[in-house]
Amino acid sequence: MRHIMVLNAKGGCGKSTLATNIASYYANEGAAVALADYDPQRSCLDWLARRPENRPAIAAVAAYEDGLRRAPRGADIIVIDAPARSHGKELTDLVRHAETIVIPVLPSTIDMQATTTFIDELKRVGKIASQQAKIATVANRVRENTLIYDDLDEFLTRLRVPYIAALRDAQNYVRAYTRGLGIFELPEYLAWPDWDEWEPLLSWLKSKRSQPTL
Ligand SMILES: Nc1ncnc2c1ncn2[C@@H]1O[C@H](COP(=O)(O)OP(=O)(O)OP(=O)(O)O)[C@@H](O)[C@H]1O
Ligand SMILES: [Mg+2]
Repeated sequence: MRHIMVLNAKGGCGKSTLATNIASYYANEGAAVALADYDPQRSCLDWLARRPENRPAIAAVAAYEDGLRRAPRGADIIVIDAPARSHGKELTDLVRHAETIVIPVLPSTIDMQATTTFIDELKRVGKIASQQAKIATVANRVRENTLIYDDLDEFLTRLRVPYIAALRDAQNYVRAYTRGLGIFELPEYLAWPDWDEWEPLLSWLKSKRSQPTL
C-alpha cells in the first residue's frame, strides 16, 4: 500500500487541491484509492461528498478523528491531506504515515519564507533525514512571466529538495473541485494545459525517486 501525503505548514498553498487531484488521477487509472483527511476543515471529505456516483469511487477516511485505522485494507493508494500549521510532534506523527510527501508552494514572498522554515524543520524529522520518506516541492498557482514566479522558480531550484512541477493558476481547479472532480476528469479541450503540467509530478510519483529504498 502506497501513502502519498500533501504537506506544508503554510495555509492555503494548495494541499487539498493537490490531494483531491492525485486521488482522482489514480482512481481513474483503476487503483483502489482512499483519501484520508487529517484536517478538521474536512476539505477533501467535502470534495468527496460532491463526487458524482458515475466516477471511479474513492474511499473517505476521516483521519483527523481516528487516524488511518478506518482506511480500507484493500486500498492500493492512500492519499493524505495534511492540515496547515503542522509543527513539532504533530508533524513527526504525520510524517510517520507517508513514504512520499508533496509540498506545494505559492509564488509569494510570505509563502517562500514560511516554506524555508518548514523545510528546515521537516528535514530534521528522523524519517526524512534517513530517507525513509521522499519529499519534493511543486510550485502552485504560478503565472508565467511574473517576477514573483521567477523568484519562486529560483527559490525552489536552490532548496536542495527535488522540485518536480509547476502548476498554473487556473479556474479548472476551482471548477473541478466544485463538481467533486479532478482536472483529469474535465474535458481535454479545457484541461490539456494542466494535464501537461502534471506530467512530471505523476512520473515522479510513479518512479522509484519518490519511494524509499528498502
Ligand atoms: N492551481 C490553482 N489554480 C487556481 N486556484 C487554486 C490552485 N490551487 C489552489 N487553488 C485555490 O486556492 C485556495 C487554497 O487551496 P487549498 O484549499 O487546496 O489549499 P490548502 O493548502 O489545502 O489550504 P489549507 O491550509 O486551508 O488547508 C482554494 O480556493 C483553491 O481552489
Ligand atoms: Mg486544505
